[in-house]
Amino acid sequence: MSLFVRDARVVPGDGTPALPRASVRIEGEHIAAVGDTLVPAPGDTIIDARGRVLMPGFVDAHTHALWAGDRLDEWEQRLRGASYLEILAAGGGILSTVRAVRATSEEQLAHNLRQRLDQMLREGTTTVEVKSGYGLSTEHELKMLRAIQTAARGFAGTVVPTALLGHAKDQDEGIGASFVERTVGETLPAVHAAFPGIAVDAFCEQAAWSLADCRRLFEGARALGHPLRLHADQFHRLGGLDLAIELGARSVDHLEASAPADLARLAAAGVTGVMLPASGFHTDGRYADARALLDAGGTLVLASNCNPGSSPTSSIPLVVALARRQLRVTIDEAIAAVTSRAATLLGFGDRGRVASGLRADLILLRHTDERQLGYELGGNPVDVTISGGVMNR
Ligand code: NIG
Repeated sequence: MSLFVRDARVVPGDGTPALPRASVRIEGEHIAAVGDTLVPAPGDTIIDARGRVLMPGFVDAHTHALWAGDRLDEWEQRLRGASYLEILAAGGGILSTVRAVRATSEEQLAHNLRQRLDQMLREGTTTVEVKSGYGLSTEHELKMLRAIQTAARGFAGTVVPTALLGHAKDQDEGIGASFVERTVGETLPAVHAAFPGIAVDAFCEQAAWSLADCRRLFEGARALGHPLRLHADQFHRLGGLDLAIELGARSVDHLEASAPADLARLAAAGVTGVMLPASGFHTDGRYADARALLDAGGTLVLASNCNPGSSPTSSIPLVVALARRQLRVTIDEAIAAVTSRAATLLGFGDRGRVASGLRADLILLRHTDERQLGYELGGNPVDVTISGGVMNR
């Protein structure tokens, strides 16, 4: 199977300039050649881009896309003035989704996720990270991680699971040491046995996991060889950012409450900052300071944070549009943050850029200027998605 996309504006995805009129040849799963003098080979299926933008498929590196139930009643409470953390502290929020996930079968969970993954693919996302974190017990965290595996099977894109073992505290277990002890002493080893090498994540926040709790989990996870990621500084600066730096985490995600000096430390440590503007938009209008991170030489990833509580969207184009307005990033910075930088964060050297030899995960926009990605609000700018060399219209 070979494809030949001709007459495209090729946006490489790594921040280097676009090729205004070029062709891309795809053989099997990979990009065989990129250039402005290419000709199709006999048997190639030809896609005439007519000047439209061809760029890497989006890599969404932070989602909670596996859930059951909805949070519509809590959303009404929020519209009447209750805050995200007040609802969580009262046993709702993440914990109401935990109750729904526990009551849902593994098969149904896999089906829910698969529907969202298919929607993401239509919106141009070809690689997606999906966290557990709504199980909060050994049985239900493992159930979630297996459901993620099941949903990924036969899906045209790529799914990367993350074990979000420290998302909240199960109030039925009593808030405090016993829940953390059980997570570190029982759930973590069970996840390690079934999913060795999976990244381990936590939510360092008031009404969620304290700094000391996160340290316990992360020291245990690191000793077992798991990469670390941390939700930190979403609402309060509790010190999670420096813990993540100290323990060599791959990323710190959220960062809405981080000061420029915090982001400079993150940059200096080479830890990726993952910013999630759709959750600022949906919760309280606060946004992370991407300029401070980028201007300090840091690595920025932008992601959807798709989840039922703080970010009910899977649209990377919406994320780019919000980032251009609220995070003051250029279109090239935004595109790199949802393609090549995100791929690197997830450990993929084979995607996120348009270059020969890489995996053919590509999208053809309906636009001829990539700035439209950050300009348009809502709607789907993707005409064609190609994942591993296979076209999905
Ligand atoms: O990254 N803040 C913690 N976790 C998610 C929200 C999950 C939820 O509210 O269900 C986030 O925003």
